[in-house]
Amino acid sequence: MEHTLSHMTAPLLNWYKTHARALPWRQSPSAYHVWVSEIMLQQTRVEAVKAYYLRFIAALPSIRDLAACNEEKLLKLWEGLGYYNRVRNMQKAAVQIMTRFQGEMPRSYEELLRLPGIGAYTAGAVASIAYGIPVPAVDGNVLRVMTRMTANYGDIARQSTKAEITGQLQRIIPQNHPGDFNQALMELGAVVCVPNGEPQCLLCPVQACCQAFRQGTAAELPVKSPKKPRRIEEKTVLLLAAENAVALQKREAGQVLAGLWQFPNLPGRLSHCDVQAQLAEWNIPVREIRKGKQAKHIFTHVEWHMDSCLVLCDPSAMDAGDQFVWVTKEELEQLAIPSAFQPFLSVIRPFLYAT
Ligand code: ADE
Repeated sequence: MEHTLSHMTAPLLNWYKTHARALPWRQSPSAYHVWVSEIMLQQTRVEAVKAYYLRFIAALPSIRDLAACNEEKLLKLWEGLGYYNRVRNMQKAAVQIMTRFQGEMPRSYEELLRLPGIGAYTAGAVASIAYGIPVPAVDGNVLRVMTRMTANYGDIARQSTKAEITGQLQRIIPQNHPGDFNQALMELGAVVCVPNGEPQCLLCPVQACCQAFRQGTAAELPVKSPKKPRRIEEKTVLLLAAENAVALQKREAGQVLAGLWQFPNLPGRLSHCDVQAQLAEWNIPVREIRKGKQAKHIFTHVEWHMDSCLVLCDPSAMDAGDQFVWVTKEELEQLAIPSAFQPFLSVIRPFLYAT
């Protein structure tokens, strides 16, 4: 088995030479560039990452800049990517790299692995692509390719399956081109050995050593245990406008989207009367309440199903208590508003004028 598997290395590398997409982080793959791109690629598709990556590197060209960046700017650069703890961990790691490694990412797989937010996959990607160290980098694409190559029916959600595949790759990874090899596997998974539906086996450079192709079972693989269903949370979002400002709140630590900005919201689908009562309790003088749009947002473990109300307030609302921060149109553009609340921006914007 391992013998046949080793036959995939040369055709895969050859295929990659001609088929590798020109991606911004492949132009000058420093360890920092690889690190930033790989963290972004863990949550979003290549096409969407390109613009985020270029903007991030332009704003924070070095590890020193990342270590020193203020939180608001950092979150704004990550706005819409989700999993905001990943960028916070990157910053923690950058601070450690400044103090312990003179601003240079450590040059060993083991030391990379000890940094906050860097797991086996990211350490493998940085070590192999930036430093030419022959270690595998096993993500979902690679698991799919490899379970098909070896007709492995192990559950890819299990650590044991991942460990088995990592071991197989460790034995065949070429010592001279480990970064290209790892990226070729990812690339093959992304464009040929695709999930859901038809893998493009007729275009595959390693078809001849693929056991699932031989058995006609590529579409059955990989096996993945079903996730438990997401919890559904209903919410009513309040879009409070007063004069030329809108009310926001910073989300508390210890919940999803901690530290990001949100429109005030309440659990459940509230009636017009419920909303009126709540506003009275907050001492917010209201001129008009209109029904807003509905929106849904899917997180890893939860779904938010949201109703919204547009509340046109008397200007004195801005003095009513300190539970809100009232921001102008210009200030709003500077703050990180998570994707869950983005649909409501179009409802509130017409009520905010440039100052
Ligand atoms: N997906 C995640 N990292 C990747 C990389 N370096 N190349 C192609 N696809 C990827």
